[in-house]
Amino acid sequence: TLVKSLFRETEKHLDKEVYLSGWVRKIRDQKNFGFIELNDGTFFKGVQVVFDNNLANFADVAALSISSSVLVTGKVVKSQGAGQSFEVMASKIEIVQKADLEYPLQNKRHSMEFLREIAHLRPRTNTFSAVFRVRSVLAYAIHKFFNEQNFVYVNTPIITGSDAEGAGEMFRVTTLKLDKPPRKEDGSIDASQDFFGKETNLTVSGQLNGETFCAAFRNIYTFGPTFRAENSNTSRHAAEFWMIEPEIAFADLTANMELAEDMIKYIIRYVMEQCPEEMEFFNQFVEKGLFDKLNNVLNNNFGRVTYTEAIDILLKCGKKFEYPVQWGIDMQSEHERYLAEEHFKKPVFVTDYPKDIKAFYMKLNEDGKTVRAMDLLAPGIGEIIGGSQREDNLEKLESRMKQVGLHPEEYSFYTDLRRYGTFPHAGYGLGFERMLMYVTGMGNIRDVIPFPRTPKNALF
Ligand code: 4AD
Ligand code: MG
Repeated sequence: TLVKSLFRETEKHLDKEVYLSGWVRKIRDQKNFGFIELNDGTFFKGVQVVFDNNLANFADVAALSISSSVLVTGKVVKSQGAGQSFEVMASKIEIVQKADLEYPLQNKRHSMEFLREIAHLRPRTNTFSAVFRVRSVLAYAIHKFFNEQNFVYVNTPIITGSDAEGAGEMFRVTTLKLDKPPRKEDGSIDASQDFFGKETNLTVSGQLNGETFCAAFRNIYTFGPTFRAENSNTSRHAAEFWMIEPEIAFADLTANMELAEDMIKYIIRYVMEQCPEEMEFFNQFVEKGLFDKLNNVLNNNFGRVTYTEAIDILLKCGKKFEYPVQWGIDMQSEHERYLAEEHFKKPVFVTDYPKDIKAFYMKLNEDGKTVRAMDLLAPGIGEIIGGSQREDNLEKLESRMKQVGLHPEEYSFYTDLRRYGTFPHAGYGLGFERMLMYVTGMGNIRDVIPFPRTPKNALF
């Protein structure tokens, strides 16, 4: 029996003998018969297994605990009970193991905080079963989207000597020498313990390496882990997260925004089509109105506004913000939320930010004050994409690097791209977890990463 199709389309197996393996999600028994809700992992929903005292080991089966592992032979029949149309009448149940009674996920509601502490067991709950199946399908949708448009998938390094974002929040990579402390007596870091004598860190973005492949393959994307040492204990920041970074050649910021909008719509549509049961669950139990929100995204153009216009909207809206609004500020989450949730009421691109609050590689506008940057702000989440058109002029790039304290000679791999056939190009980074939060309605980034690396979580 094809197990997946059995759990999804039980009716196709009516009157057939089936062989199942899985875990007991629920069990109740009466004197001479009982019911097991069995889940085999291939589908969000389980199947009801009916057993009675014809089983040689009836008493042992009736005494099974939640999460016990079993092998079931039986026949698919129409169900008399409410709740399911079909069930499996067991002719044989082999017990692989009766689970320890201390299993923490007994049938009652658990708080998200409690479930985070048992990250190794939470994938067995309904909520996390739905989240992590959708995470897998969403990743596939992203690869499928770029593949269909002939983008080349590039793996960029995780250990690197460069700092793409200049945010100064990196994890340093060192080799561990057992006989030497990592710092010298005067407190300075012992460089002999660096990565083979070089200063390295975990990557904050694959963009700079991605750009080098863009100069060869035209359109490329990366999809990999990214690390930021920021200690911000928010529901949207993780120290380890995944980022998708496309880079497109002979393209400007407008093409970049079009690509981002097409991608977001494509992946939302794909997940809604491929995961109907999981999405229904989120719509009912996690975010009421999720379907309306997503359909609204699919059926409308994203908003577009420049930073200068956005500041104007914020100044004139009459709302009192905690952090004062003024041209030049790095917008805080209260400002981004107002723009996306109350003003535009849909995802909105904010473009052309002041150069001083953005990274060195962004293309300088004619005004000399702003750069060709774009952030996509989504209602309920805030920034899900950050991107820009890149500075393709060698002199301007080198002068920007010096202004922010980078040494162009250390980035010759990057400036070479502006020497050997420079070209207009653009790209962006999509935070994979933030996108997953948006699609599922889950409110905390810790609950969309299998094993979150945030300051307070256990690190197994
Ligand atoms: O805006 P960011 O910092 O942009 C870059 O890294 C560029 N190099 C991207 C590019 O142009 N190729 O990060 C991009 C996105 C953010 O919009 C956000 O969705 C996500 O990455 N992100 C985080 N997600 C979770 N936890 C964090 N600490 C994040 N920091 C950024
Ligand atoms: Mg950003």
